[in-house]
Amino acid sequence: MANITLKGRDFLKLLDFTPAEIGYLLDLAADLKAKKKAGIPHAVHQGKNVALIFEKTSTRTRCSFEVAARDLGMGVTYLDPSGSQIGRKESIADTARVLGSMFDGIEYRGFGQEIVETLAKYAPVPVWNGLTDEFHPTQILADFLTIREHFGTLKGKKLVYYGDARFNMGNSLMVGCAKMGLHFVACSPAAYKPNDELVAVCEKIASETGATIGFETDPIKAAKGADAIYTDVWVSMGEPVAVWEERVNALAPYQVNRAVMDAAGEGAIFLHCLPAYHDRNTAVGREMGERFGRDAMEVTDEVFESPASLVFQEAENRMHTIKAVMAATL
Ligand code: CP
Ligand code: NVA
Repeated sequence: MANITLKGRDFLKLLDFTPAEIGYLLDLAADLKAKKKAGIPHAVHQGKNVALIFEKTSTRTRCSFEVAARDLGMGVTYLDPSGSQIGRKESIADTARVLGSMFDGIEYRGFGQEIVETLAKYAPVPVWNGLTDEFHPTQILADFLTIREHFGTLKGKKLVYYGDARFNMGNSLMVGCAKMGLHFVACSPAAYKPNDELVAVCEKIASETGATIGFETDPIKAAKGADAIYTDVWVSMGEPVAVWEERVNALAPYQVNRAVMDAAGEGAIFLHCLPAYHDRNTAVGREMGERFGRDAMEVTDEVFESPASLVFQEAENRMHTIKAVMAATL
């Protein structure tokens, strides 16, 4: 940990960080988690204030930033999807300079990656990406902390991502795996495969870290030898309701179910960034379940509730890893 400092840095995407820096954030998160569990205070940023901008809804990310900021001794202001002028009456560049004059750090969740990049360009304080259409980098830190806690290492582990591999989770997992030396496989229909340019960037990184980047359309073949099976919702925030039909039709064969977990074999874990449509106990799960005649979407309830599923440990780790990002960059 010793000679790495991230003070003053933005946290916009994992592509901006070296493997050593990502490893440092994971080590710091593990340390902060241990302190929290032991009741050891760690209010190392007493008196500072952070702004949290959410143009899309959130449970985990918002709560992680709020709890983590308070544990670090900081004040928090939450700007909800309708409660600010951002983008409508005030440009991102102007918002960045206003908030940057009052706060010590700014979190942003929203649409295009270029928005958070612009915010960071104009804000004189660190900006943290709380999810864009393209990337969800704090999620990957939590996923990797969970994998590391479970297997003791990241290097050489095989992670298979099922679903729409063109969006934030597929992209970010591929970058994260390339950086940290994991074997990444995207498993989806050919039309939903990862972006060629990003694949090329990740393959180059992988050639230096020992990682591999693969693509497979057969869900059972893809699972062979996997250490971690990962999936995400089929329709992401900000996408029109109209895409549900196309997604359900295309991705139904890519549901993570018992056959996939059996193919992965004993010892494989199941991860999901959450929220998940694993039953009909949500408004959307019920509505879409009835419409398409399904009890679950991207993962069966059986897998979600199985001992292989580490999704709640993973969710808890959002807080510890987000705390590490703030602690390190402020
Ligand atoms: N995984 C995740 O980002 O969850 P929220 O949308 O609840 O923040
Ligand atoms: N792909 C999902 C991730 C949610 C954490 C979305 O963008 O809605």
